[in-house]
Amino acid sequence: MSFGTGKIWMNGKFVDWKDATIHIATHVIHYGSGVFEGARCYSTPKGSACFRLEPHMRRLMESAKIYRMEYPLDLQPWFNVVLETIRINEMKACYIRPLLFRGYKELGVNPLSIPVDAAVMVWDWGAYLGSAALEEGVDVKVSSWTRMAPNTLPAMAKSTANYANSALIKMEAVVDGYSEGIALDVNGNLSEGSGQNLFLVRDGQILTPPVGSSILGGITRDSIITLAREAGYTVTETVLPREALYTADEVFFVGTAAEVTPVRSVDKIKVGAGKPGSVTKALQTAFFKVINGEVPDRHNWLTYVYPQEASLRERPKAVATGGR
Ligand SMILES: Cc1ncc(COP(=O)(O)O)c(C=O)c1O
Repeated sequence: MSFGTGKIWMNGKFVDWKDATIHIATHVIHYGSGVFEGARCYSTPKGSACFRLEPHMRRLMESAKIYRMEYPLDLQPWFNVVLETIRINEMKACYIRPLLFRGYKELGVNPLSIPVDAAVMVWDWGAYLGSAALEEGVDVKVSSWTRMAPNTLPAMAKSTANYANSALIKMEAVVDGYSEGIALDVNGNLSEGSGQNLFLVRDGQILTPPVGSSILGGITRDSIITLAREAGYTVTETVLPREALYTADEVFFVGTAAEVTPVRSVDKIKVGAGKPGSVTKALQTAFFKVINGEVPDRHNWLTYVYPQEASLRERPKAVATGGR
């Protein structure tokens, strides 16, 4: 299904895309009182599979907890809703957007009495920064906007409100002719892109800003850290100054939408040789092999969607080699 077609799950029912509407007096529209997720389902040789559905849905529930939003679904029922939404739309591969939001009752900043509504949408969404970006890398700038200061809007919650900040970063970058912006935190240290986490490579070591630098604790970030350590790289989560971008050998973004996207210049200064570096390429390849099901799923990161595809996953029967 492309964007604008198919069915959307809303509060327990599937409705046609065109009917998944809300009233103009809905709280979330006025006060940004929503939390959401962005996950992906990939088509693999063993059938369609969601990548790391559990941490995504756990993060949704944690974002809701931070904002005192209660919704009567636990983790397992949430998995079922997501899987059912993919199945009913007969998607092989898709982007998945679960959303919890303060609904319609009355207006006023205090959301505590406002009901919490939920929806899950799926649609086709290719490479977020374009497929050329995955191959060639992107040109980015350091944003004049910083990420939210700690204890203002919680960066660890994936709240709709945070994306007002992301939109400022993204708009400035695009208007200035760049693909993306990198935001600093309130102390002037590196934070993240408008919708991606950031990695640097220097002398073969991998560095990434910590959760205390106003980043979203990305699930792709966690996956890349895991894959990099398994491949023998040292990965350090550490506070990084802005200028580390200009002296890095390699810089790359990671995220559900952006996957693993090399950065080839920052503020018109070439990163390394101005093209994707070997560590970035190695990790990009490793990541794509996992999400595309081309290597064994050693971490149980894939949740298969269609029961009828189970035969694709059956192991060949062991050949009897004689009894004892
Ligand atoms: C601000 C921000 N940072 C980082 C990420 C990457 O997170 P994930 O890998 O969980 O998609 C996202 C995407 O959701 C994001 O919006």
